[in-house]
Order: sequence, then C-alpha cells, then structure tokens
Amino acid sequence: MDLVNVLDIGSDGIAHVVELAAKIKADPSSVAGTRSGLRVGLFFEKPSIRTRVSCEVGTAELGAQPIVLKNDEVGLGTREAPQDVARVLERYLDVLAFRVFDHRNLVLMAEHAEAPVINLLSDREHPCQAIADLVTVAEHRPLKGASIAYLGDGNNVAHSLMLAASAVGTSVTVATPAGYEPDETIVDLARSGAIGGAEITLSNDPFAAVVGADAVYTDVWTSMGSENEAEERRIQFEPFRVTEELFESAGSEAIFMHCLPAHRGEEVTDAVIDHQRSRVFDQAENRLHAFKAILLHLTA
Ligand code: CP
Ligand code: NVA
Repeated sequence: MDLVNVLDIGSDGIAHVVELAAKIKADPSSVAGTRSGLRVGLFFEKPSIRTRVSCEVGTAELGAQPIVLKNDEVGLGTREAPQDVARVLERYLDVLAFRVFDHRNLVLMAEHAEAPVINLLSDREHPCQAIADLVTVAEHRPLKGASIAYLGDGNNVAHSLMLAASAVGTSVTVATPAGYEPDETIVDLARSGAIGGAEITLSNDPFAAVVGADAVYTDVWTSMGSENEAEERRIQFEPFRVTEELFESAGSEAIFMHCLPAHRGEEVTDAVIDHQRSRVFDQAENRLHAFKAILLHLTA
C-alpha cells in the first residue's frame, strides 16, 4: 500500500491513522521500537523543516532506520528514471518517502515498486500534512460534522485537506481568488468520497467562507516551485490575508491553522498566527505523531 494520494489508504485508513496518531501522541512509548530493522529512505527535492525532521525522528523512535538520500546524488528523472530509482532502492530499503516537484514521478515509483511509497509533498498533494491537520482539528472538536474554511491558494495542501477531511465527515470551504481554485478532478473526488453529509464548497469570498467554521486554515500564496509568480500572486491574494477581522468573523471558538512555513504579514498577520486560538505549533508537532501512524499503517 502507498500514500501517494491521501485516498490511497481509503476513508477507513484515514480515520484509523488519525486515531492512531492521537493515541501515539498520548503515549509515545506504546509504539516505541515496534519497527526495529525497518529501513526508511527519505528524499527531498525541495526544502523542508517539519517533514524532514518529523520523518527522521519518527522513524528512529519506532526503532526503524531513516536513510536520507541526497537530491543531487539521486537526480530523480534526470540522472535516472523514477521507476528505476524505486526498483533499485527497494532492494535496500523497506519504505520510500519522497518530496518531489512532479507528482507523476511518485506515481511512476509506486507503479513499479512493491515497497510502500509515501508522498512527502508534491505539486498535487501533501497527504502527511492532511493527516496531521485532521489530528489537530480532532483535538478541538469531533471530525464528523466539523467544518474548515481554507483561504488562499487551491494548492497541494488544499487538495489533500479536502480529500481527507470529506472522507471522515468534515466539510471544507475553499475560498480562493478567481483563477486559483483547486483542481476540478480533486474537487469531484472529494465530493464523491464525502461521508456523513460533509460538503466541499468553493468560494471567492473570504469573509463569507469563514462564517461558522470550526477552523480557519491558510497556506503560503506562492508554493515552492512557483516563485516566479510571487509578485502577481501578492496582488491577487491580498483580500485573502487572514487578519484579526477575518479570523473573528469565524466566531469566538474557531481555531487558526497553517501548515507552515508562514510568511508573516502576507497570508496571515502576526496577531492571528500568535493568537490564543492559533494551533499552528500543535499542528506542526502532530506531523511527528502522524508520520509514525502512517508508517505503522503502511507496514502492518
Ligand atoms: N508543512 C511542511 O511540510 O513543512 P516543511 O516544508 O518544512 O516540511
Ligand atoms: N503549499 C506549500 C506547502 C509547504 C509545506 C508548498 O508547496 O510550497
């Protein structure tokens, strides 16, 4: 089983992994050392703090061995075809966890290797983030019937969030500037996989989108690899900045979420990211528990 797309593990798998991550958080010793001998390859084509460190520490805490591969040495798709990289590496390693620019490279790897392939972020999805996001929402209120307002770019983070949330009964409203909506096929997939009456709603109105939301979520306006669009995006996304006024429009109980790294003053103000109801650092911590749960699930 792979986790290239968050739905690869199915809605039951998502619910199980989220619950398992919460249990691991409550008692890390319950799983310590349970994957002794497992070798986990970690590879990053783009920068990372949270993913890199949570995966390396999480792997080690399970008793498994993290092996970090160097981007320039692997040359995924340049020095060697992704399917050949995967078929070679699985002769030495048990799990291949890769952060890539092009999602299709992960699909190729997963198609050609028996070893589980984990997506550590691609241009299309960020499934490990979505699992940690749901762990974070579940710490605030039950996922069935919850609602998240995601503001900003209809990007990889928004995609995995929509797919994973709707699969466990959480509604998501995605508010973007016109032209920056999430991929239509992902919206359709999230709608068709929704349970418990969860809804996926698209909007171009940030203030309308947050009304009644249990969580207000944003991400950077310009993702890694699209830096040449940053100037234009700063103009287009200006009305989507999460200010105190916008955050307060969600109601007095809503939490603030961001996958991080954040550009303070751009997509979110200091007052919101440092707000008493900001959960961004819990969310970052939950990446560690989520990765352990994912590894355990994929190697059960
Ligand atoms: N949220 C997240 O994936 O952070 P990094 O890019 O630092 O890994
Ligand atoms: N959407 C962002 C997420 C970073 C964790 C990016 O892809 O750069």
